[in-house]
Amino acid sequence: MTFKKSIKFPLILVNLKSYYETIGSKAEELTKIAEEVADSTGVCIGIAPQYMDLRQIDRFRIPVFSQHIDPILPGAHTGHVLAESVSATGAVGAILNHSERRLELSSIEMIVERLRSLGLISVVCASSLRVAMAVASLDPDMVAIEPPELIGSGIAVSKAKPEVVSGSVEAIKRINSRIVVLCGAGISSGSDVHAAIQLGTSGVLVASGIVKAPDWKKALLDLATSAAET
Ligand code: G3P
Repeated sequence: MTFKKSIKFPLILVNLKSYYETIGSKAEELTKIAEEVADSTGVCIGIAPQYMDLRQIDRFRIPVFSQHIDPILPGAHTGHVLAESVSATGAVGAILNHSERRLELSSIEMIVERLRSLGLISVVCASSLRVAMAVASLDPDMVAIEPPELIGSGIAVSKAKPEVVSGSVEAIKRINSRIVVLCGAGISSGSDVHAAIQLGTSGVLVASGIVKAPDWKKALLDLATSAAET
């Protein structure tokens, strides 16, 4: 699969959410570190910053994602996130249907199509195996399986619920073998990433394990080195 701005797998996608620690120049600082770690390990690291920071983060060489897109066309909408505006920042794609920003199935379908028509990647989150199967039928580029109860817990989905991860990989691939499967929630160490890849995923979605780490470089290196060695 070819995506713009060299996406390759395994992928470590770092979601900065709305964390205070990664606003503005701090998001740039983390992205610069991520770029260095990606260069030194050869592992692809993506960043999903806050909307306000999308354009400034895009001057780095690593792929940048929006945290959300709204199901709208350009026009009279106030306070929405428009796919075309995200594309104009240089971002390569967007996370959709995160547990902290859910969307209806019909909206996901519309946004996935709109992103594809703009050459952008869709990463659709799924809170369970059943949701994963439902969103897989909408033909997104990637599905990220993320049980909400483990998000921000420090307990890795790849170790606490391996059957959910492997079951989702199997079910998604059966529906559409083209879809790339990631997993997330509680990922914070290299061994969590190793377990995720062993379960059949092509990478991880991670937030607090990096953003809240006392040493961003050390934390990113741990994840990326393990991804490179698995
Ligand atoms: O989008 C990633 C996410 O929801 C996982 O969060 O803090 O458990 O890594 P966290």
